[in-house]
Amino acid sequence: MTGGRLELQGLRKSFGGVVATDDVTLTFEPGTLSAIIGPNGAGKTTLFHLVTGKLPPSAGRVLLDGEDITGLDRQAIVRKGIGRAFQVANLFPSFTVAESLAAAIMTHEGRTARLFSAFPPRDIARRAEEVMELCGLSPLARRPARHLSHGDQKLLDVAMALALDPKVLLLDEPTAGMGPEERWRMIERVYRLWQAKGLTLVFIEHDMDIVFRIAESVRVLRYGAVLAEGTPEEVRRNPAVIEAYLGAEHALEEAP
Ligand SMILES: Nc1ncnc2c1ncn2[C@@H]1O[C@H](COP(=O)(O)OP(=O)(O)OP(=O)(O)O)[C@@H](O)[C@H]1O
Ligand SMILES: [Mg+2]
Repeated sequence: MTGGRLELQGLRKSFGGVVATDDVTLTFEPGTLSAIIGPNGAGKTTLFHLVTGKLPPSAGRVLLDGEDITGLDRQAIVRKGIGRAFQVANLFPSFTVAESLAAAIMTHEGRTARLFSAFPPRDIARRAEEVMELCGLSPLARRPARHLSHGDQKLLDVAMALALDPKVLLLDEPTAGMGPEERWRMIERVYRLWQAKGLTLVFIEHDMDIVFRIAESVRVLRYGAVLAEGTPEEVRRNPAVIEAYLGAEHALEEAP
């Protein structure tokens, strides 16, 4: 499946008095690779929750290829073609890698993913194998998720989203909690699968080295609002961004 066009129009979310997302208008063009950055609490994860239907927006719209998908439930949004991986990987601990992928695909297609997902139908098994291949998970196919390294658990979470053939894939801090070497390995895989699939990829990342190295465009959030957007070079030189980061503890120095 090729990339979809994701448009956020005036998205807003408040929790009581806290405005977590403040009138966010952004467009992600088909097939592009974009990063979202911003200090802790800037509203990055909340923005993904609004796009994926985990939370209803207080105002604003989400459009996928021009179709208004605001307010649809999570399953419906996945079916429309928006996939996501979580800041903390969301897995079935006792399922092996192959079973996890098979179960994800079967559930997505409304087929019963019972305990026998260890023996999925052949077409499902083949699709699971393709995704494992693409993500470099094939050698771990028979390992239960709970016995994977932290990095491989995060990779499996990405693979499970990818297995549903998204047009737009949202990754919330794919390298969180990883050491420098593991981080680059993860990012290289993400980059390769983006190239192979041609999907629209949006990732949240604190590591500026990674962001500036691979993203085609960067969107900066602060206090829920868009502070800046542009190419990595434009964003790096933007005085408002420099000031925001110098003013925050979470500065650009988080890179390894
Ligand atoms: N369910 C909720 N109820 C109340 N406040 C919330 C809720 N979810 C998020 N918030 C608040 O919204 C703001 C944005 O949080 P969010 O998790 O989106 O930030 P973030 O940019 O992803 O941060 P981090 O970089 O730490 O992951 C924060 O002030 C947070 O405390
Ligand atoms: Mg977050």
